[in-house]
Amino acid sequence: LKEVPFFCDFSFDELAQVRKLFIERRYKKGAPIFFEGDTGEELFIVKSGLVKIFRFDRSREVILALFRDGDYFGEMAVLQTNQVRSASAQALESTVLYAMKRKDFQTLLANTPKLTLNLVDSLMDRLRRANEQIEDLTFLDARSRIIKTLLMLGNGHGVSQENGLLINMKLTHQQIADMVGTVRETVTKVLLELQDKFLISIDKKFILLKDKGALEALL
Ligand code: CMP
Repeated sequence: LKEVPFFCDFSFDELAQVRKLFIERRYKKGAPIFFEGDTGEELFIVKSGLVKIFRFDRSREVILALFRDGDYFGEMAVLQTNQVRSASAQALESTVLYAMKRKDFQTLLANTPKLTLNLVDSLMDRLRRANEQIEDLTFLDARSRIIKTLLMLGNGHGVSQENGLLINMKLTHQQIADMVGTVRETVTKVLLELQDKFLISIDKKFILLKDKGALEALL
């Protein structure tokens, strides 16, 4: 729980109290967690695994976020009055979540001002990211958006290795396309170009960023 942005400055005792309010839920790879439009009664924190947050728009999927250990989601329907789930959530790997009931989360927030401030701080980070995505969709071409998304995944979910930065999740070309707002063929073309230039390598759907500086220079 210490890794969750809004619990970062909680003491051991405070975390132990909070821990009691969470129940553990397990999901198999591919299992749905909830659907857009559902009423939302729980806030979730990822203990382990990988969660995709997505919407369907004109029969195409848009991936809004990928969440890993220590990330939270489901706060919108839980905290807003009369609002339903704004997007769907699905486990992309075998996943363990901590779930907290709406009432418990609301009581915790009411009794813990620093938690509210930490949550607002973290939500603002998400708004900044969403603003950046709007800007990228407006001004960048698909190739640049793909490169930017690879760099973002490397920075957020990367593991440093001798020969570069490994994005620590299996990604299909279609999933990258759904994150970037383009078609699979374009992702395939750009990834081949980046491999030809020795800027990335791909092994069993894991992407290694071999030269971050050179990738940034392409933007
Ligand atoms: P909720 O609306 O309850 O269910 C879907 C969840 O996805 C939502 O709460 C947020 O936690 C998360 N979510 C929705 N939109 C975004 C976004 N643009 N970026 C990151 N997370 C999001």
